[in-house]
Amino acid sequence: MKKIISFSGKGGVGKSTLLVLMLKYLLEKFKNLDILVIDADPDANIGDIIGKEINFKETIGGKMTALKDKIQNRQIPLDVSKDQIIESEVFEALIEMDDFDILEMGRGEGSGCYCSVNNTLKRVIDVLSKNYDVVLIDAPAGLEYFARKTGRNVTDLVIVSDPSKMGIHTMKRILEVTKEVDLRFENIWVLGNRFPENSIRDILEKEVGNIKEEYVKLLGFISNDDEISKMNIIGENLLQLPNESEAYKIGKELFAKII
Ligand SMILES: Nc1ncnc2c1ncn2[C@@H]1O[C@H](COP(=O)(O)OP(=O)(O)OP(=O)(O)O)[C@@H](O)[C@H]1O
Ligand SMILES: [Mg+2]
Repeated sequence: MKKIISFSGKGGVGKSTLLVLMLKYLLEKFKNLDILVIDADPDANIGDIIGKEINFKETIGGKMTALKDKIQNRQIPLDVSKDQIIESEVFEALIEMDDFDILEMGRGEGSGCYCSVNNTLKRVIDVLSKNYDVVLIDAPAGLEYFARKTGRNVTDLVIVSDPSKMGIHTMKRILEVTKEVDLRFENIWVLGNRFPENSIRDILEKEVGNIKEEYVKLLGFISNDDEISKMNIIGENLLQLPNESEAYKIGKELFAKII
């Protein structure tokens, strides 16, 4: 099994939450899977959701800032290429948890550009993903990430939408942009999150039905779950969401379609 699964969608639709529920499912179902979580969203933090404090120095942004200082102070050996140095810094940024690893993109300092970090990230995903069975990527909300072809090795793209016009609009834009820049995936899964159990679901189902490409499929729907909101507000590790949670029970069935 070799899967690189990226969660995308409009801001706030539940990308990070569902990624963590999928992680929970993978950890419970497969005991010996090597899993890497890449938090590619500079504004958010998977660590916050799973109760792991990650400080700036441990992130790729932090490593890159330190590297810039080293280069300016001429502390870098001349016989090593810049790419090699960046690569080794990224390996150093791997955070080892008990059952999986995390790579945290982190914020840049000031209004720094992420282009070079993003370019590095592309290559590092190639290199790193070889060492893992499953890579879960939390993509930033915008379309720029795709326009830059950052997700080029992703096998399964999950596009999350909430029951809103904008959520569905962003879903469609992601489909357009990935096509424009010729990013190919084995599967694109549309996942409705926080959808009430009524005819509103038909609207998203119809939208996905209208899409001609056979690799674009409706994964299914997850309802709003008060337990998830509660754990978020009190800052509890979402991996400890009770197995009786309705969202998790349905989530497991849906994630099993991907793996
Ligand atoms: N099914 C659900 N039931 C209840 N609350 C949910 C559900 N899914 C997500 N949430 C809540 O919605 C909020 C946004 O979720 P999350 O942070 O996962 O979204 P996101 O798409 O990753 O946002 P961003 O674009 O900012 O990264 C959080 O407070 C989360 O707890
Ligand atoms: Mg997020």
